[in-house]
Amino acid sequence: MLVLTWCLRVDGVMMSTSLLLLLLVCSVQASHFYGTVMTYYPKNTHPAGFMEVVLRYKLNFHSCKQTDEWTCLNSNCGTGNFTVHTVDEEGDGEWCQTEGVMTRQVPTNALFQLQLADAAWISNKNGIVHWRAVTVVELRNRSDTGQANRSPQTTMLPAVRVPSNCQRDFNLLAFDPDGDEVKCRYGNTIPECNPCTPPSVLKLSSSCSLSFSPNSSSNEGSYAVQLVMEDFPRQTINLTHTNKVQTTITTHNTLSKLPIQFAIKVDPVVPSCTEGLYLPKFLPPTPNNRAQLYTPVNQSLEISINAQANISTIDELLFSGPYNVNQTASGSGRFILRWTPSEDQSGESHPMCFVVQAVYNSTKYHSELRCVIVSVGNDPSLNATTESQTTQPATTPETPPPSNQVVIGLKVRISALSQLSTSDIRNIIVQRMKEEMVEQGLPSDIILRLVSSVQVGPPTSAAPAVQT
Ligand SMILES: *[C@@H]1O[C@H](CO)[C@@H](O)[C@H](O)[C@H]1NC(C)=O
Ligand SMILES: *[C@@H]1O[C@H](CO)[C@@H](O)[C@H](O)[C@H]1NC(C)=O
Ligand SMILES: *[C@@H]1O[C@H](CO)[C@@H](O)[C@H](O)[C@H]1NC(C)=O
Ligand SMILES: *[C@@H]1O[C@H](CO)[C@@H](O)[C@H](O)[C@H]1NC(C)=O
Ligand SMILES: *[C@@H]1O[C@H](CO)[C@@H](O)[C@H](O)[C@H]1NC(C)=O
Ligand SMILES: *[C@@H]1O[C@H](CO)[C@@H](O)[C@H](O)[C@H]1NC(C)=O
Ligand SMILES: *[C@@H]1O[C@H](CO)[C@@H](O)[C@H](O)[C@H]1NC(C)=O
Ligand SMILES: *[C@@H]1O[C@H](CO)[C@@H](O)[C@H](O)[C@H]1NC(C)=O
Ligand SMILES: *[C@@H]1O[C@H](CO)[C@@H](O)[C@H](O)[C@H]1NC(C)=O
Repeated sequence: MLVLTWCLRVDGVMMSTSLLLLLLVCSVQASHFYGTVMTYYPKNTHPAGFMEVVLRYKLNFHSCKQTDEWTCLNSNCGTGNFTVHTVDEEGDGEWCQTEGVMTRQVPTNALFQLQLADAAWISNKNGIVHWRAVTVVELRNRSDTGQANRSPQTTMLPAVRVPSNCQRDFNLLAFDPDGDEVKCRYGNTIPECNPCTPPSVLKLSSSCSLSFSPNSSSNEGSYAVQLVMEDFPRQTINLTHTNKVQTTITTHNTLSKLPIQFAIKVDPVVPSCTEGLYLPKFLPPTPNNRAQLYTPVNQSLEISINAQANISTIDELLFSGPYNVNQTASGSGRFILRWTPSEDQSGESHPMCFVVQAVYNSTKYHSELRCVIVSVGNDPSLNATTESQTTQPATTPETPPPSNQVVIGLKVRISALSQLSTSDIRNIIVQRMKEEMVEQGLPSDIILRLVSSVQVGPPTSAAPAVQT
């Protein structure tokens, strides 16, 4: 249907007979699917038994105007509505990712399944034409948490690139809010994919890491990756249906099932695989892959990303995450992602992934993939630091703690030529101080956190940079 809307917009004045012909051409051209991801969070359970669940899904196409709809695979998906927003668009118009937020009311907490089925994928070397994807939504009450099951939380970019002569690991985000074990496998049956042929060039581990190893240049081209992510309880638990029927499940039984589908593009040989030359290299304060970050409701989180490439030119940050993440570029490989969670996301964790893209001689180069999980609430490790700071006197970094169990409060006065925001202090100064302390001999796993800051005077140029 949306393909039709798009064609009408392009050529709205055509006569109806020629329009029909045009639609056939368009439906072939416009079918450029780049994959999908779906996750969910249960919301309220009403006393009468019916439940509400919010499902978030990414749909990736060549153009932001293309879309598709999830349908009910069996007949117990209840009623629902959804809104769709753009997340990110590749600067060259290669792809567009949208996020749909679907709210459904279901009469009971019984398992239900949503599916996506249409044609066609971008052309790929593993011969996938039609797209198929399925989500299994388990909402029964768990005996270990006393709540409905929550799905693993993950996301992915529509496409990631690697030159055919370089080794690269894609460690996907696999965070589970219930603490379940999360595993990935290739789709293997019809509602999950059709056909399911996995890319020959990738090795998948059950911990959701995909490894590309250089083989031969005949590997160059695009591959469709059709993965399924599942959560397994870490011990035997009972699931209770609204009608009170209990089912015992073991560590071998899956709870929910999610699709993660995207493209991997194997590009021509690069003269050097060393990061920081053609392939962009991440520098501090870019968060580590799979890092967990915290931000309270209504408070904006800033993620600073810094990358360097000495031969190619860094062009853009490509990201996937909640649709209301804002991106700003601050020059020379520096980017900031900003996100403010709303009240109804309190206690939830939301995924974000990013890659830096550089260009040299019209060829695109990607950095490694990094993903973070953002939990909406206060950082639980902050309390310990606050308490110790009030009970211990301030000390200097020259006194190394004898073991990593020790917490030291540190008062630092910083003089700067210009105004510093709290996020500058957190992301740049605290990070630099930690690097310096490690250089001076402290263990590299020390945690340095900003507890509070207060401005004591106007910006000055006279004082030394850091006093302790
Ligand atoms: C969708 O349904 C939910 C629950 O009834 C409601 O809160 C929300 O406003 C609805 N959204 C739209 C876009 O209609
Ligand atoms: C889930 O079970 C716990 C007890 O195990 C109960 O307290 C809670 O109300 C139940 N939740 C729902 C949504 O039925
Ligand atoms: C290289 O790829 C081909 C298929 O594309 C595969 O059969 C072969 O085993 C691979 N070689 C290595 C060393 O991985
Ligand atoms: C699960 O239910 C069975 C039967 O009701 C009960 O014997 C068992 O203790 C329950 N297990 C857990 C983990 O709650
Ligand atoms: C890139 O240039 C910077 C500054 O000259 C240098 O510190 C860095 O080592 C270079 N990177 C690589 C990978 O050669
Ligand atoms: C968050 O902002 C909304 C709208 O401005 C407000 O209604 C709500 O009370 C705020 N919640 C918190 C926890 O600050
Ligand atoms: C993102 O940008 C939009 C539009 O410019 C603005 O309304 C919104 O408040 C911004 N969000 C954040 C978290 O900065
Ligand atoms: C740029 O690419 C073209 C073809 O893609 C190639 O012939 C040329 O040698 C490349 N130039 C450099 C400087 O790598
Ligand atoms: C952390 O501090 C907050 C407020 O100071 C308090 O409500 C909360 O219970 C504390 N959490 C822990 C784990 O101590």
